[in-house]
Amino acid sequence: MLNVEHVYKTFNPGTINEKRALIDVNLQLEDGDFCTVIGGNGAGKSTIMNAIAGVWPVDSGRITIDGNDVSGLSEYKRAPFLGRVFQAPMMGTAGDMQIDENLALAARRGQKRGLRWGVTAKERDEYREILRKLDLGLEDRLTAKVGLLSGGQRQALTLIMATMKKPRILLLDEHTAALDPKTAAKVLAATDRIVNENKLTTLMVTHNMRDAIAHGNRLIMMSDGDIIFDVRGEEKQRLQVTDLLEKFEAAGGEVSDRMALS
Ligand SMILES: Nc1ncnc2c1ncn2[C@@H]1O[C@H](COP(=O)(O)OP(=O)(O)OP(=O)(O)O)[C@@H](O)[C@H]1O
Ligand SMILES: [Mg+2]
Repeated sequence: MLNVEHVYKTFNPGTINEKRALIDVNLQLEDGDFCTVIGGNGAGKSTIMNAIAGVWPVDSGRITIDGNDVSGLSEYKRAPFLGRVFQAPMMGTAGDMQIDENLALAARRGQKRGLRWGVTAKERDEYREILRKLDLGLEDRLTAKVGLLSGGQRQALTLIMATMKKPRILLLDEHTAALDPKTAAKVLAATDRIVNENKLTTLMVTHNMRDAIAHGNRLIMMSDGDIIFDVRGEEKQRLQVTDLLEKFEAAGGEVSDRMALS
């Protein structure tokens, strides 16, 4: 489903701020793979997500999504293949629009404009059911402005919007990092359910090693712009946090507080 081949990216080349952020990265995700991504600060986790999404062109290498070479496509042209949720809850939703309007916008993604704009009663019923499953009390607030929601509520809504049209690849970049532990657990549970129900091919960055082990069928560790560890299936299930810390330190990585404390 996703093929990243020999991808390189250097920021600010030839200046004192030069940073080789991706160095010959190779990654293949099978259809339905749910892959967690861990690694220290600056390891290149967000950069690989941005490379896949086409935020800027990579320097060399090739990225294909479901057989389509997207390497030369703009972010806008790749958007139909992708669902994205970032760390910052303010991104991905329109704060001055209502919950139901945001959902309708996501549901109509990719459709021609000029379609009737109102939200139908039937759609509202569907949205209510989708929101009820989140267990965040949003089902009775369909006409509330999204800007009034808590960070966790907004992040859960973003997740729903990003997955409504079943993207070929779902990119989650620390999407629960800014939330309190209880809300983060709910958003993670919703993530698991939505990914599994729709068999979405997913990359999920987390700094929480326990979450990285507990979720998905595959785990990769990044360090200094490359993938240094890639496990799947039973081997992944057997992993312990101490195994990951050892791998990480063996690669010369410095275990940050938020990794160690999570
Ligand atoms: N747009 C950019 N311009 C310049 N440098 C960048 C840019 N994006 C990332 N970098 C640099 O590339 C390196 C990798 O950054 P990246 O954001 O991928 O790290 P990360 O693994 O996501 O870390 P974190 O856990 O802190 O989010 C860092 O040194 C970062 O400063
Ligand atoms: Mg990051």
